[in-house]
Amino acid sequence: MDQLTIALAKGRTAKQAIKLLQNADITFPDFHPSSRKLVFRNPENTVKLVFVKSVDVCTYVETGAADIGVVGKDNILEADADIYELLDLRLGKCKFCVAGPKNTPPLERVDQLTVASKYPRVAKQYFLKKGIPIETIKLNGSVELAPIIGMADVIVDIVETGNTIRENGLKIIADIKDISTRLIVNKASFATKTGSIQRIIDQIKSGLECSV
Ligand code: PRP
Ligand code: MG
Repeated sequence: MDQLTIALAKGRTAKQAIKLLQNADITFPDFHPSSRKLVFRNPENTVKLVFVKSVDVCTYVETGAADIGVVGKDNILEADADIYELLDLRLGKCKFCVAGPKNTPPLERVDQLTVASKYPRVAKQYFLKKGIPIETIKLNGSVELAPIIGMADVIVDIVETGNTIRENGLKIIADIKDISTRLIVNKASFATKTGSIQRIIDQIKSGLECSV
């Protein structure tokens, strides 16, 4: 039996992701949502689960520090890592949007923009396609603040319920892309541990189909 390391993004979707693994018979009896522990093992000692920052999951998988990663499509697009994306886990559903103050003109009428984002690569790609020159400001959180205090014209960020946008007096200007949590795999691991990885994927898949 191969030893597999799975890197899981800490945060909102972690509990649901653990449940998906549980449905695939990979259990972590020591796991508790309020625990500060970062490494867990299944009773069979075939799988090691490591909790990492969502923005780092692709790095762990690309470098082979983890064989498998569970992470949002937002982080995958921004990381542009050389990995396989093999399964949509249909968790953490949200979307990438452009948002800004309520008086922001339609994008067809702007010549250039300053865009604040945790995802400057995604922002650059989107506005390049639109033919709008932008300057990006990389922030690591509370991005909605940038247009409020005049640091940027608009933001590119993920929107789930829309509460953060609404409560900060902003509006959605354009939808960019739907996002959800994905399962990613290191390329070399997939070649050398194909059977074990495929088995996990198949088990998770059948769990997903049961939950539809
Ligand atoms: C995320 C995201 C948005 C918000 C979207 O921020 O960056 O701000 O959630 O969710 P909503 O549409 O349901 O309000 P997060 O809470 O992760 O904080 P951060 O951006 O400061 O890291
Ligand atoms: Mg935020």
